[in-house]
Amino acid sequence: MFFGKRLKDEIDYNNLPEHIGIIMDGNGRWAKKRGLPRSAGHSAGAESLKKIITEANKIGIKYITVYAFSTENWKRPKAEVDYLMNLLLDYLKDAENSLAGENVVIRTIGSRKELSAEIQEQIKKTENFTSKNTGIVMNIALNYGAREEILNAARQLCEDVKNGKKNPEDITDEDFAGCLYTKNQPDVDLLIRTSGEQRLSNFMLWQVSYAEMWFTDKLWPDFKPKDLRQAICDFQNRGRRFGGV
Ligand code: IPE
Ligand code: IPE
Ligand code: MG
Repeated sequence: MFFGKRLKDEIDYNNLPEHIGIIMDGNGRWAKKRGLPRSAGHSAGAESLKKIITEANKIGIKYITVYAFSTENWKRPKAEVDYLMNLLLDYLKDAENSLAGENVVIRTIGSRKELSAEIQEQIKKTENFTSKNTGIVMNIALNYGAREEILNAARQLCEDVKNGKKNPEDITDEDFAGCLYTKNQPDVDLLIRTSGEQRLSNFMLWQVSYAEMWFTDKLWPDFKPKDLRQAICDFQNRGRRFGGV
């Protein structure tokens, strides 16, 4: 044991990732392994999410974005999509008591207009209800796709140019980031994906430019607070260079 040197499996609270992204994958396979319908995997996944948010908040993480439903997930059977939408509605309602009580700020990112009127209403309610909280900011990526987000940003900037508010050559990195759903939030430092898949699946293409990627074979419902702590420790043991030496 070396004094003054941090242990490899202990979190350094002075060097936390500011923003963690999570691609919560593997609910279906978790259920299949148990001979259960995919819906049971999604319910178990929602429980897992609550515990992880509580833990991330306790650790002192400032921002967390969790991928709950992608713009491509509409391709799934209608019954599964309906189940997921109901689960998300319940999650948002319940979060007003549980997570709001833990001082969590809840927001959603993604395109709202394709969601049901009921979900859109609940999103507004939950966002308003938690907006004054001062704990972790949780972005739920719901009907989210990075290409849709980037295209939207390009359209907004084109409008500004058309209206004479901006010159194309003056558009900056910050201007662009300011048109994304995550405006005023830091880039993702640590990206976690469960279930053994190692791809982005249209998640935060702009914001993960310099994120450290952390993959685990664990399926999302099996992902525990201690796994989150492990991911953060591993992140802290990596050398980030941002193109420098
Ligand atoms: C992630 O689990 C949840 C969503 C995409 C909504 P999956 O449903 O993708 O589970 P697998 O990948 O089929 O196991
Ligand atoms: C990504 O998982 C989307 C979410 C976790 C919500 P998918 O299961 O949809 O991704 P692919 O199809 O394996 O790339
Ligand atoms: Mg999947």
